[in-house]
This record gives sequence, C-alpha cells and structure tokens, in this order.
Amino acid sequence: MARRADKVAIMANTNTASKSWPELASGVPKGLETGLRNYWYPIIQSPEVPANAPVGLKCLNEDLVIWRDGEGRARVMNDRCPHRRVKLSAGRVLAGELQCAYHGLRFAGDGSCTLIPWEKQASDLNSKLCVTSYPTEEIGGYVWAYLGDVKKFPAPPIEDCLPEELLHPDRFIHFSLPTEEWDANWLLVIDGSDTYHAVTLHAESQEHESVLRYIDPAAARAHAGKDAGASTVPLADRLIEIVETDGHGLRGISVDREGRHLDHGHRLETIRGERFNLPGMVTNVLRPVPTAAAYVSRLYQVPIDYHRTRLFRFAAWRVESDAQREKLRDLVERVVRPRQLRTAAEDRAMAAMAGDLVESRANEFLLSPDRDMVRIRRRLAEAFVAQQLEGTRAPRNERTPSRDTLVFPV
Ligand SMILES: [Fe+2]
Repeated sequence: MARRADKVAIMANTNTASKSWPELASGVPKGLETGLRNYWYPIIQSPEVPANAPVGLKCLNEDLVIWRDGEGRARVMNDRCPHRRVKLSAGRVLAGELQCAYHGLRFAGDGSCTLIPWEKQASDLNSKLCVTSYPTEEIGGYVWAYLGDVKKFPAPPIEDCLPEELLHPDRFIHFSLPTEEWDANWLLVIDGSDTYHAVTLHAESQEHESVLRYIDPAAARAHAGKDAGASTVPLADRLIEIVETDGHGLRGISVDREGRHLDHGHRLETIRGERFNLPGMVTNVLRPVPTAAAYVSRLYQVPIDYHRTRLFRFAAWRVESDAQREKLRDLVERVVRPRQLRTAAEDRAMAAMAGDLVESRANEFLLSPDRDMVRIRRRLAEAFVAQQLEGTRAPRNERTPSRDTLVFPV
C-alpha cells in the first residue's frame, strides 16, 4: 500500500500542546539537519592524531580541533581562538599545550587560557579567554567526544553508550575500516539504513558467489550452483519478500518468482535488539560466505555539516583464543574488507543521488516497507525536540544486538 510520509509530530511530550518547534522540511525539526547534540560521537581514528600536531575537522557543523596533551591524552575543543577567531588547528602543540598560530596564546586541555605571551603574569584576561572543551575519551581505536552542553545535559559515562565489543578487547576483536566522508546530508545517509535495499542494491556485490569470485576464483567455481544462492537465479527473476522480524524490525529477503528464499549474503536468522541507536549507529549481522563466521557490523553516521556526513565502521566478533584472532584477521583482509568497501561505495552513491534533504523530503513517496525508516526518523526528530523544548534527553536504547547474538561460530 502506498502512502505519503507520516508527518512527525514535532511536539514536546507534555500536555502543553501549544509548544512546538519549527520544521525545516516534513518531519525534520529545524536544527536537526546538522546534528543531534548531547551525545558521545566518534570523532577520528586514534592513529590519525599525532603526538605533536593538532588536527582540525568539522563535526555537527562545528569546527573542532583534536590534539594530544602532555600525557598523550586526546583533547577535543572548539577550533577557534577566542582572541581573533583563527583556527587553533593551524597552531602548534608546545609543552603539552595548544598554541594559537597567530599571536601565541596558549590553552590547556580543559580549554583554559594558560598564557598570553605579552602579559607578565596570568590576569583575569586568562579566565575570560576560554575555549569550549568537550569531554573526550579514547576507546577501541577511536577518539570520542561528548558534543554537548554539559551544564544542561551532563555527559553520561561513555561505557554506557558504546557497544560492548569496544569495551572488552579481551573477549572481542574488531577491525576498523577507513573513515569515509560522503556528499550527503546525514539524515539521508541514515535513511539508507533500511534493510530491504540490500536485496537489490547489493545483489551482486554481496552475494556469496560474487564475493568468492572476488577473493578466490577457484573456490567460486567449486561452489557454483551448490546452494540456493541468489546467483543461481537471474536478476530478472528475483523479487523481494518483506518480513517482520522478532524485535529487529523489518527485513527484505531475496526470493525467486515462486517465492523460494535465496541466500543473498545477508544473514537471515533471527537477530534480536535494536538496529538503530541514537544518535546514529546502525548494526547489521552479516555472513560474507557460507563457511565464514558471521560478524556484527557497526556503522556510525556523524554529520559534518548540512551537505556532508562522516562514517566510521567496524566489524566485530566474540573470540576465545589467539588462534581465532589470527583466523579472523585473515578473513577480514580477504573477505570482509573488500566486501564492505564495495557495498559502502554503492550506499554512498545512493545517498549522494538523493540530492538536497529539503527537496528530497518534499517530493518522496514512501511505500509500506519504509515504515522502519519512518520510525527512525521520528525517534531522531523527537529526541531533538525533547532537548529543545523539554531540556530532556531521549533514553538510551538497548545495547545492540543483544549479548547472545554475538556468540558466533568461528
Ligand atoms: Fe547498503
């Protein structure tokens, strides 16, 4: 059944129905288009922050500077010198402090001004020249910052907000893929987390035989036609069956004209737990080839500005031995990484093609399987409006996928 997009109720959850927030586009409260603040975000991968030089990048429409203090601790601050507004990321790291390139003012990791080079001693000027510094942690090979207003919304412990595989490297292994920057608004990128697009968009890049062909042509020849793989059925004869899973939302399954299920490289077993976590993490469970261990793919979608989005993704397994770790390292290099890069390129092209957010939302025509996506849109909109109108934060979702689903055979 075709229907127009549900209009998101941009209202606070109170009886004061008169309270409302203006919309930029249908279902998009004004301001959400460049990000949802007051959450922990991955900012950059750890190896990209050297010990002795600041790095500048934009995140949630804000210029940030990332640098390491005297103890090597990563720091994330607003990237403007309060003096003459030039970027601090153009400066130097000196004796564990950040020096502005322009006139030499220096700042500590907490954002306080420690030195004005022509002032003989610290004065009240120092306390007036403060840079906003964000709570920062380094976990799992990423620098994380709580991009928010800590007075209004105190930062929750980061341990409560990260998937467990990043917190317990003794029990898990994860492999990060290169950080990506896409030319698309982050809300359009998140729209791409619907599961049923994989059947069509990734039909060739994800199907087992194609993956095998890519990594091992001889194995592909030996495997050809052996299972009910999608590759045994021509693309022209494939359709999609939409199923509602128990607790994991909607899924699309590749089927032939008789409705027989085809394994198209997306794991079909029941998965529990939320697929989407605020502010922008998507979880998928994938099995790249029939004999390989299924893995959890995590994707963080972080707005850069209205036009661009930064994506961090990694694959994770539960492990019990060093031998397993070695085996997985090999699987990642040969299978998982090439496959992820190919599907990411396809997703990236779709997100960019959706064009301008406002135009896209004004002209789209949603169909029944888009209801999962509409739910995610609504959660984002409501979380944003609750912060603006109520001063409250949406509760953290259940950690995903739930613990048991991470036990995979290796
Ligand atoms: Fe995709």
